[in-house]
Amino acid sequence: MITYSLHSPLSLGPKDAKKLQDINKKFARLSNDPSMSFLTTAHDARELTETKKIIKRLRNQFSTLLVLGIGGSDLGAKTIINALSHTVKQPKQVIFAGDTSDPTHLPTLTASLDYKKTAVLVISKSGGTTETLATFSVILERFKKALGKNHAHHIFALTSSSGTLFEIAQAQGYEIISHGVVGGRFSVFSNVGLIPAGFFGINVDKIVTGAQEASTLVAQNTPRNNPAFTHACFAVTNARKHRNIAVLFIYSAGLATCAKWYTQLWAESLGKNGKGTTPLGLVGPTDQHSALQLLQDGPRDKFVTFVTTAQTNNLTVSKLGNPGFDSLLAGKSFNTILQAQYEGTKKALKHTPASTIKLEQLNEQTLGNLLMFFMLSVAYTAQLMNINAFDQPGVEESKKLTKKLLISNFQ
Ligand code: PA5
Repeated sequence: MITYSLHSPLSLGPKDAKKLQDINKKFARLSNDPSMSFLTTAHDARELTETKKIIKRLRNQFSTLLVLGIGGSDLGAKTIINALSHTVKQPKQVIFAGDTSDPTHLPTLTASLDYKKTAVLVISKSGGTTETLATFSVILERFKKALGKNHAHHIFALTSSSGTLFEIAQAQGYEIISHGVVGGRFSVFSNVGLIPAGFFGINVDKIVTGAQEASTLVAQNTPRNNPAFTHACFAVTNARKHRNIAVLFIYSAGLATCAKWYTQLWAESLGKNGKGTTPLGLVGPTDQHSALQLLQDGPRDKFVTFVTTAQTNNLTVSKLGNPGFDSLLAGKSFNTILQAQYEGTKKALKHTPASTIKLEQLNEQTLGNLLMFFMLSVAYTAQLMNINAFDQPGVEESKKLTKKLLISNFQ
């Protein structure tokens, strides 16, 4: 399991214990509601078996998977693959596209594909997302050109049972993989996150085990023993004190995409009705050379959560033949340097309320722990703020207005 520690005082009393109990009761009552499916998906053995069958079939037939999706439809899979690529000896190729309407890279991509060996997995819960479908249209045209009628065996649509993508897939005879009721940004443990990860070669069983472990926190009614709730209280308490920027400072290059995933999860779930805190996902030590100055010496409007993990390889720094450098760094492991940088930054930010999530090692299980921890924590935070974490009216509004502009022949 991951461990969570607070570096700033946070008093949690009987009132908080009562709140936690009430929320956990509410979550148990809603266990069959779509909103709670981020918890149940990780326990759905039937769906996992189905997902693994699809993974096996795709891996047997293809060497590359082209994933088209955006937001919740691709960030989970990207996070898993980027975090765990070091655990796979002979990875298959997974390419992500479809998260932009900027066509700059599309011609290079279509020119480089080995069409016979590539499958396309187009993921959209609504089935109508502009970026995803626009990219899909170009990819599809190229597949038709390259493979003729046979192209249909290469196209897989992961979508709900209505919507534009569903209609296209049905009409053209493409395989439809059912998108569950789970919402996009909460879908990392469903087929949305696991098919691309499993195709790459990552052990999806272990990820799900990690997620299941962390999901048991929903039955933990003692605030101090429930880090997901403690973290929610930490966030809400700081927001009340006008610390409105929620910084996640991740000391792991592998988890860099997790910072993006977290930003989406936090912002889209908690920014509503004039409420919410602004997420800022940073990666250490890279961002020590960028945002750290502002954190350390700028407005006191932030709270920080560090994520640290011990590195699995023992690589050490070589000698450079310079006495100053060699005595300071030569022979030291990169892991030691990274930990020193985290500790140094934590000390430098002594005026900023802080907490740390520690992963003993970055592996399938701890990643499953971490992502479930964040989703549960966001669900608790939303309850404490009295908002609905599971809708996104602001995003829908922008999608609608863009479509309106396009219908009116916007130039
Ligand atoms: O979390 C969400 O609901 C969003 O980020 C969606 O995942 C994103 O807008 C893509 O939507 P769709 O899967 O319908 O294409």
